[in-house]
Amino acid sequence: MKPIQVGLLGIGTVGSGTFNVLKRNQEEIKRRAGRGIEITMVADLDTERAKAAVGEGVQVVSDARAVIANPDIDIVIELIGGYGIAKQLVMEAIAAGKHVVTANKALLAVHGTEIFEAAQKKGVMVAFEAAVAGGIPIIKALREGLTANSIQWIAGIINGTTNFILSEMRDKGLDFGTVLKEAQRLGYAEADPTFDIEGVDAAHKVTLMSAIAFGIPVQFSKAHVEGITKLAAQDIKYAEQLGYRIKLLGVTKRAKNGIELRVHPSLVPAKRLLANVEGAMNAVVVHGDAVGTTLYYGKGAGSEPTASAVIADLVDITRLHTADSAQRVPHLAFHPNAMNDHLDVLPMREVVTSYYLRLRVADEAGVLAKVTGLLANAGISIDAVLQREADEVGGEGSTQTDLIILTHDTLEGTVDDALAELQALPTVLAPIVRIRKEELS
Ligand code: HSE
Repeated sequence: MKPIQVGLLGIGTVGSGTFNVLKRNQEEIKRRAGRGIEITMVADLDTERAKAAVGEGVQVVSDARAVIANPDIDIVIELIGGYGIAKQLVMEAIAAGKHVVTANKALLAVHGTEIFEAAQKKGVMVAFEAAVAGGIPIIKALREGLTANSIQWIAGIINGTTNFILSEMRDKGLDFGTVLKEAQRLGYAEADPTFDIEGVDAAHKVTLMSAIAFGIPVQFSKAHVEGITKLAAQDIKYAEQLGYRIKLLGVTKRAKNGIELRVHPSLVPAKRLLANVEGAMNAVVVHGDAVGTTLYYGKGAGSEPTASAVIADLVDITRLHTADSAQRVPHLAFHPNAMNDHLDVLPMREVVTSYYLRLRVADEAGVLAKVTGLLANAGISIDAVLQREADEVGGEGSTQTDLIILTHDTLEGTVDDALAELQALPTVLAPIVRIRKEELS
């Protein structure tokens, strides 16, 4: 049988990795897919770069629409990124009856509903293993491997840039700004790192996992998104003294009255495997009612790790494209007419979790009692308290100190209200630091 023909839109790091791995492992991939898979056409604005990447025998064009219009192309890989032209091209490829493989988490987290609907109508597949956690096959695991389970929660380190920065801050005791510059110099952080450091990239990824886990539409706009830019080295140190590490987590949970969907820095017990995921690595923990807790670890970015996921999708499509579309694995794991549209994403005030609080207070008699009394009145149960010596915090003769409190599980709205009251106390001398805590047990 003649090889299935693939057109590639955008040949940067991941595109050239895909081309190289497909070529290097072509025999083995063919034996798995039942048919050869060949990239026969590449579109890139920089045609010279593209030609250098693919060599002879592959048609290189600058116009992506020429790939979509080619009747010999069965699958289009979109590696352009972003929501603009990438969206138009994906919609045009679907309309032209092409199957699509994409690594574009931003596009799917924001426009997934429209894209999957169009693909469903047209009877084509849109595959996106590479969009979440790079080379880790987490979409496959959630959609197929764990299909027996009622998934309870997912927590993941799904952004390598921020995990690298947090690991360096902890190891070297440096502040965020210094480590960010170093990360940019080493190529771990992009020149414009906003999506990574503000938690947006992780929120795109957890939005996709949440939809697949719970059978809800993709709803990036309802995700709570908080990055690591305000995190102080001091809090990483205090967390460590209390037996925790701080990680940027993407969390989605099935709660009694809805779904939690959030990205923010979190304290994680140092003994958990997730707390020990260091540098630019990614890891995702999934808890299902039948299987219990499972962990997936690997490279979340990079040329060949991401290519590994792109090619897994190419193989899936090659195996399934002649099957009746009703028999294929649904895009979001649940059949489109069986989605959970009564399950809402909860506002943050309705989320339940535990907290790390740091209060800079006047070192005077009665301050601790006042603070803990106020928390008790609000119904917030304290798990641990750490008070530093004033000299250690503010130097010799200091009249201020840090009071660190860990709470038990509490409704976020209750904590918001209590913190507003605490902040108004004359003995609380600086903005209170609040970091959520996930026990992951
Ligand atoms: N910028 C991402 C990260 C990789 O740092 O993990 C692509 O999603």
